[in-house]
Amino acid sequence: MSKIWIFACLFGLYLLYSFTVYTKGTEQHIPLPATTQLQVNKGKQLFQQYNCVACHQLYGLGGYLGPELTTAYSDPGRGETYMKVFLQSGSRTMPDFHLNNDDVNALISYLKYVDETAVTYKAY
Ligand code: HEC
Repeated sequence: MSKIWIFACLFGLYLLYSFTVYTKGTEQHIPLPATTQLQVNKGKQLFQQYNCVACHQLYGLGGYLGPELTTAYSDPGRGETYMKVFLQSGSRTMPDFHLNNDDVNALISYLKYVDETAVTYKAY
């Protein structure tokens, strides 16, 4: 008899869990102020337009010619100023895209946002 109660309990919890996951979702949304959101969107567009992912990885996906960029923003050895230099003038192996200041700032905003979303990624 007690087996039936255990089954009923587990099944009830399963239904509750399913309902929560399907109605609330599991993704966390990081709300941004409207102007920052525009910058981030522009940066993402530029990142796609210049095909940065051909050489760089985000969340482990992408090319392997350049370094992983997911957590570059909060990396104590890299960070904003360090990244800006590469975007403004390239290096021997990183192409110079002749980006203007607005584009560089938008790309940095996008990479900062990516860094903020990489919560579980940083744990490894
Ligand atoms: C042809 C391949 C290639 C493309 C395309 C490319 N990069 Fe790079 N990038 C590199 C390489 C290689 C390095 C390392 C350069 C070095 O250390 O001298 C680098 C370095 C960087 C760095 C410095 C980070 C670090 O850890 O050293 C940033 C930031 C960066 N790239 C951003 C971008 C962005 C944004 C784009 C798109 C607009 C882009 N890259 C497109 C190859 C590329």
